[in-house]
Amino acid sequence: METTTTAKQGTPGPAAMVDALNNTFGKHAGKRASHAKGFCAVGEFKPAAQVDEFVLSPLFAAGALHATVRFSVGGGNPGVSDKSRSVRGLAIRVSEGPSSWDLVLLSEPVFFAATPASFVSFLEARVVDPETKKPNPEKVAAHNAKFPDGTRQPALLAAHAAPASYGTTPYFSNNAFIFHGKDGAPHTARIIVTPVAGTHYLSDEDEKNLPDSFLEAELETRLQGGAVEFDIVAQLPAEGDSLSDSSTAWTGAGTVALGRLSVTALAAAGTCDGLVFVPVNLPAGIAPSDDPILQSRAAAYAVSLKRRQDAQ
Ligand code: HEM
Repeated sequence: METTTTAKQGTPGPAAMVDALNNTFGKHAGKRASHAKGFCAVGEFKPAAQVDEFVLSPLFAAGALHATVRFSVGGGNPGVSDKSRSVRGLAIRVSEGPSSWDLVLLSEPVFFAATPASFVSFLEARVVDPETKKPNPEKVAAHNAKFPDGTRQPALLAAHAAPASYGTTPYFSNNAFIFHGKDGAPHTARIIVTPVAGTHYLSDEDEKNLPDSFLEAELETRLQGGAVEFDIVAQLPAEGDSLSDSSTAWTGAGTVALGRLSVTALAAAGTCDGLVFVPVNLPAGIAPSDDPILQSRAAAYAVSLKRRQDAQ
């Protein structure tokens, strides 16, 4: 049964969070409640040479692991334009036999909410006004006054155009995780995925001339020239960086290499339809932090999966 609130008074539960996504973006049968527009690809993940110093996991014993990848546009509208100044998503499942690790990442370093209550309020403030066909700016201002954590990701998105390619934008975990390496000591870190081809956003010309859907064809063409590669690192916190508030940026105190992702081919259409990437599906050696956003994600993703399946 779906729960609308949790035991913690006033904290929205998974169904309430998915309802908020559905109310803002509409219900689209069989589609994900968020990141509804997307497609899958395949490739491999090669762990970094010294990875076990930082994260000791049997998963990384293999020299190369299979990777299933889904690229997506943020939000629950499957017809959204690839040119929209919203986040892009990268979900990666790295697997070896029965073990796997899901990384579920966004193209900005911070999330738009620090807590589930803020998440729901952010979305409620953006329900489109039937008359203006736009969110009501007064409601957005009221949300920002109550939840200043909701202002930082929109400011970053407004500062540049949309990514020119799924292969030329960085991706970030926003949430922190706890890594255990050879010495057994815990290290809290965020994950950053950097495109080897560099970061490129659309030019004014591109924004004018490109069709609303270009990202999938662009990646397909790019793959004809060889694998699309990303370096995956753990970012260590500087003093004062919050370990539990994913709406705040980190100053950071260096990075540790985790490995390289090579995307080699698009997957057959529909490959990911029945799949859910779970942000707390972690291998031995990696544990979730107590960030309330991270803590609430898995249950919401399960509600979305159930609704997708029930709509079939
Ligand atoms: C409380 C906070 C959040 C909630 C309630 C939430 C909710 C959801 C839901 C319901 C889905 C669709 C799941 C499915 O049907 O498979 C989804 C997908 C996704 N979310 Fe979140 N999300 C949250 C935070 C985040 C954060 C912090 C990130 C990354 C930094 C993120 C990245 C993504 C991505 C990339 C997808 C698409 C996964 C795929 O391609 O299958 N979300 N989210």
